[in-house]
Parts: sequence; C-alpha cells; structure tokens
Amino acid sequence: MYNLLKGKVGIISGALDKNSIAWKIAETAHAEGAKFVLTNAPVALRMGTIQELAEKCNTIVIPADATSIADWENLYEKATEHLGGKLDFALHSIGMSPNVRKKKDYGDLNHAWTLKAIDISALSFHKMLQVAEKMDVLNDEASIVALSYIAAQRTFPDYNDMAHAKAVLESIARSYGYRLGTSKKVRINTVSQSPTATTAGTGVGGFDAFMNYADKMSPLGNASAQECADFVISLFSDFTKKVTMQNLFHDGGFSSMGVSEDVMDMFRDEK
Ligand SMILES: NC(=O)c1ccc[n+]([C@@H]2O[C@H](COP(=O)([O-])OP(=O)(O)OC[C@H]3O[C@@H](n4cnc5c(N)ncnc54)[C@H](O)[C@@H]3O)[C@@H](O)[C@H]2O)c1
Repeated sequence: MYNLLKGKVGIISGALDKNSIAWKIAETAHAEGAKFVLTNAPVALRMGTIQELAEKCNTIVIPADATSIADWENLYEKATEHLGGKLDFALHSIGMSPNVRKKKDYGDLNHAWTLKAIDISALSFHKMLQVAEKMDVLNDEASIVALSYIAAQRTFPDYNDMAHAKAVLESIARSYGYRLGTSKKVRINTVSQSPTATTAGTGVGGFDAFMNYADKMSPLGNASAQECADFVISLFSDFTKKVTMQNLFHDGGFSSMGVSEDVMDMFRDEK
C-alpha cells in the first residue's frame, strides 16, 4: 500500500455486499489511509452486509435514499460532523432499473419505471452534487467519481433502459465538472467499468455470456472489481488533479476494439 489517501476524508455509496465494486473501493481507500463514511439505501442496509464493512473500515453507515434531497442533506450533515470537516472525495456507485430487474423487453418498457431508473441511477448524481454545492461540504480540489458502463455509447440489447441512465450520468459529470471546476477546482469523472459479477451486474440478462465475450474482446481481459477500486483510488489521490469531465474506460481495452482473434476464431469456417 502507498498511503495515497492519507489525510483525506470522503463518502462512499453503494456497498451492498462483498461483490459490490464500492465494497472493494472502501476496503482499498481504508488501506490507503482515507477516513470515510459509508452510505446506502435504507432497504440495502436491511438486506446487505454493509455493517460488516463498516466495522472493518472503522466507520459508520448513514442511510440515504439517493433520490431524496432531504436524505442527501442529512447525510452530508452527519458525515461532515463525524469526519470533522469537509470532504475530499465522494463515490457514486448507485444503479438500479426496475425494467431490467423485471426483465421487461425494450419494446415494452414501463416508462414510469424508466423514470425511476434514471432518477436512481443518474439524477441522484446531480442531487448528490447540487446538495454538496449548496451546503458547501466539498473541499477545494475534491475528487468525485461515478461508475458507468459503455452502453452509454454503444448498444447492448440486454442493458435496456440503463443505457439511457448511464448517458445522463456521464453528461452530468461534464456539466457539474465545469461548474465545480471553475468555482472550487473540484474534478468530476465517470469510470466506465468492464462487466463485473455483482448484484447489479448479474441482474442484466445473458450476463455470463456477455462477460465472457467482453473478456475475449479485451486485450488485457476484463477489469475486476478490485482493479476498478485501485483505479478509483488513483482518481481520488493527488496524482490526477487535472483529470476532469472525462468518461474513463477501465475495461482492459474493450472500448477500442473492433474484433479480436479470439472472437474471430469462433466464426471461422472449418476447412
Ligand atoms: N457490475 C457491472 O457489470 C458494472 C459495470 C459497469 C458499471 N457498473 C456500475 O457500478 C455501480 C455499482 O454497481 P455494482 O455492480 O457494484 O452492483 P451493486 O448491486 O453491488 O451496487 C449497486 C448499489 O446501488 C444501491 N442503490 C440502489 N438503489 C439505491 C437508492 N435509491 N439509493 C441509494 N443506493 C441505491 C444498491 O443498494 C447497491 O448497493 C452501478 O452504478 C453500476 O451500474 C457496474
């Protein structure tokens, strides 16, 4: 370990169980010397094992539904009180689509659920930033990261309406990155991660086949949750102070590939 986050304080959302990407980010941030509070939706606190993570990281869990402005206000108030000051980093690791979860076909979407998916998975990022700005809880040069997926740019049928949510999420990172960059030198990025076997990930139809396909297409193979954590820690550290308003692909090279030999081999006519 390198003490990359020594002296830094922050908020980590979205750790549900030990497979969650946010779980690995919390463990790694703790190992790198950060202090932080954990947060998740009240229902996730009942279902998940986040308390176990809190004990390991010597911290507390503050429940917050990411779609509720009042919950963000309460979270920031309690977090800054617990941590003894303003925040240096924050992670948005929140996603859910009722249409994906209930396996609704893209041609038969329940649009009320789509609005819910966009509210939970994308507008929550705006709410997180808007409340942080209004309450002035971010230190100058703070670093904010949200997790995204390449379905924001390219079509992956089973990703359904989450594709739209991720496109909105990435757009918010740019717009708020401009705003808080000019006012406070805060940087805001999204990390577009490889398919990863988590509760949210495996909820997407055909996940196993798709994960294998992505692995075969990527020269470095799929990025694991732990590798994602390591990358996010570098974005929270002082080594990336001028990286902002970017969607950063953390995908083993997948996003730059047309086709790989491994995948071509599967389609060759045997002579
Ligand atoms: N797993 C993948 O393949 C993959 C790939 C790229 C990006 N991502 C993104 O990574 C992020 C984390 O997902 P994960 O794969 O670790 O799965 P996960 O299921 O472990 O995490 C999703 C989290 O969102 C939380 N959440 C849902 N509704 C909420 C609400 N209303 N308020 C607060 N929190 C709420 C859940 O409780 C859970 O902790 C998501 O944004 C996801 O889209 C995942």
